[in-house]
Amino acid sequence: MIDIHNHILSAVDDGPKLIDESVTICKIAVEQDITVLFATPHVASHNELLASRQFQEKTSELQSILDEKHVNLRLVAGAEVYPTMDILRWLDEKYPLTLGDSKFILLDSPLTQMPNGLDSLIFELQSRGYKPILAHPERVEPIQCNPRLLEELVRRGLLLQVNASSLCSKRVGESMKTAKILLDHNWVHFVASDAHSIRHRRPMLLEAYEVLESDYGETLAKNLTEINGLKVLNNGIVSSDPLPYHEKKKSWFARLLPNRK
Ligand SMILES: [Fe+2]
Repeated sequence: MIDIHNHILSAVDDGPKLIDESVTICKIAVEQDITVLFATPHVASHNELLASRQFQEKTSELQSILDEKHVNLRLVAGAEVYPTMDILRWLDEKYPLTLGDSKFILLDSPLTQMPNGLDSLIFELQSRGYKPILAHPERVEPIQCNPRLLEELVRRGLLLQVNASSLCSKRVGESMKTAKILLDHNWVHFVASDAHSIRHRRPMLLEAYEVLESDYGETLAKNLTEINGLKVLNNGIVSSDPLPYHEKKKSWFARLLPNRK
């Protein structure tokens, strides 16, 4: 499987502090049948933007340690970028913000609000040939309240990445409910771990694969955890066939509850 979203590099963001922990997370990833992992540190502040110039070197450094220890995992440098219009300038200035050498770019999702001007940013990125992927939209409160907010963006080619933890959590929360709504509409293109540490969102793709396979079948499970990731690796085209939004009819009991989907 291919994990396109992962905070695996040490001492660059809120991922592991020490490289030993990075190695341990990589070993867990291998146990989860992950063969390729994109290291995608946060780029939100000016300092993180400057640090992005070192992401490739840090990824290669970790790769060398994995190779020495015979951990069979291929790392690819990437980033998870906070969605502002500044990205357009940063890309022009050749900051390495895409996933590997591809034109795919992973955009972070603020959890409490839809990013300002997201639709313009998506449009501008696409018109420059980039392929934006929105990370974990199922965790965004306004989307949890109204998944329809994504309908037009997905129809126009925005790709969505759901977190594995949203599918595997023991507690059925809003993230899980929203992830299922997005999956039911065929709006999801990737499931990735967004792993940060051994404890916090481990790279649990195998568990997510099993949920996907049992609820949506083998083809979709493979597409979201492997085939579309391969297309990112090779800068291919991730095809999309989104269904129009349809609200599930609520039972009489659900209609009595507060207005949450
Ligand atoms: Fe992340």
